[in-house]
Amino acid sequence: MTSQIDARLLPSRVLASGATIPVIGMGTFGSDRYSADDVATAVAGAIRSGYRLVDCAAVYGNESQIGAVLESAIADVAPREDLFVMSKVWNDAHAPEDAVASVHRSLQHLRLDYLDAVFVHWPFPNHHPPHAEAGMRDPHARPYVHERYMETWHALENLVDAGLVRHLGTSNVTIPKLTLILEDARIAPALIEMELHPCFQQPELFRYAVDHDVQPIGYSPLGSPSRPERDRSDDDLVDVDHPIVQRIARNHGVHPALVCLKWAVARGQIPIPFSVKQEQYAANLAAVLSDPLTPTELEDMRGVERNNRLIKGQVFLWDGSESWLDLWDVDGTIPGWNGYGSPRAQGDR
Ligand SMILES: NC(=O)c1ccc[n+]([C@@H]2O[C@H](COP(=O)([O-])OP(=O)(O)OC[C@H]3O[C@@H](n4cnc5c(N)ncnc54)[C@H](OP(=O)(O)O)[C@@H]3O)[C@@H](O)[C@H]2O)c1
Repeated sequence: MTSQIDARLLPSRVLASGATIPVIGMGTFGSDRYSADDVATAVAGAIRSGYRLVDCAAVYGNESQIGAVLESAIADVAPREDLFVMSKVWNDAHAPEDAVASVHRSLQHLRLDYLDAVFVHWPFPNHHPPHAEAGMRDPHARPYVHERYMETWHALENLVDAGLVRHLGTSNVTIPKLTLILEDARIAPALIEMELHPCFQQPELFRYAVDHDVQPIGYSPLGSPSRPERDRSDDDLVDVDHPIVQRIARNHGVHPALVCLKWAVARGQIPIPFSVKQEQYAANLAAVLSDPLTPTELEDMRGVERNNRLIKGQVFLWDGSESWLDLWDVDGTIPGWNGYGSPRAQGDR
């Protein structure tokens, strides 16, 4: 039997709005491996263990099952105002009316009156069906078009005005895209969800976000060992096998996964590890509440960085794009946008 954490002991961070958000959350993407019911059961257990932040998404296909769990948890375990529930608008719902409908559907499925945060899941409206293989391409896929992104964003801003959503977030964006979004948003992003683990620390984007009052949420914080085949390539590194991570884990007598989480929280991102296994998700929460890494260990963790992006996003590529690097603006510019510059160009919705 794993111990429960007194949720009042769970530290939080303060967002630009003044609202608080727990320093760690529970992921809910089953990686095409775990069923919706498995994930919902884990969310129920996680809330009982002391988690108060849940990272959901329309595309994970489990919001209805998680909604039933949230309803019981709010009745029996944690009042609604103690929970921070996030969802995301998927790539097939970027048209403003579709984005609004998606949020309404998430609210209904999650059985909530409001969401604490809604993210635009990817900055491209390039759809791929669940369980897609790496070579799959949406024939209508196109590059990032800022004007179109802002149409989606403005629709979500209206949901904040209506009290249905408390905060907005970007996900899978880069410094060039975030810069434009910050310039043109009426309601600035409060959160940025980004891949963050020891071998992929994204130091520039992380710093840029923090400097602009955008709180980083770190996804795949353990290096996503169970991720789908489409997100795997031969040269991917395994964070928990890194010798420095392993040495620090031995120092603390814990699994290397817990070192990844101690590091994440000390650095200032909010990790959202996923697990359906009670011993894992309870240990993940407990790890960030005690026995922090020393300043020397934190310095050593900086040296683990290898620019090893795992979620490369190949399935979002468009006709004419060269490689997955095109999705990530690696030279500081946004490829392909000029060809689609006008918001009404080429019928590219
Ligand atoms: N915004 C986005 O585009 C985006 C993208 C990806 C993920 N996310 C979010 O981020 C969440 C987390 O990312 P993720 O699921 O990709 O990866 P992750 O949290 O890095 O890895 C999850 C896997 O790590 C293993 N694990 C968990 N706790 C462990 C422990 N204490 N010891 C050893 N192994 C442990 C489990 O593997 P086994 O199941 O094999 O035991 C689990 O399935 C997702 O669930 C989702 O909510 C968002």
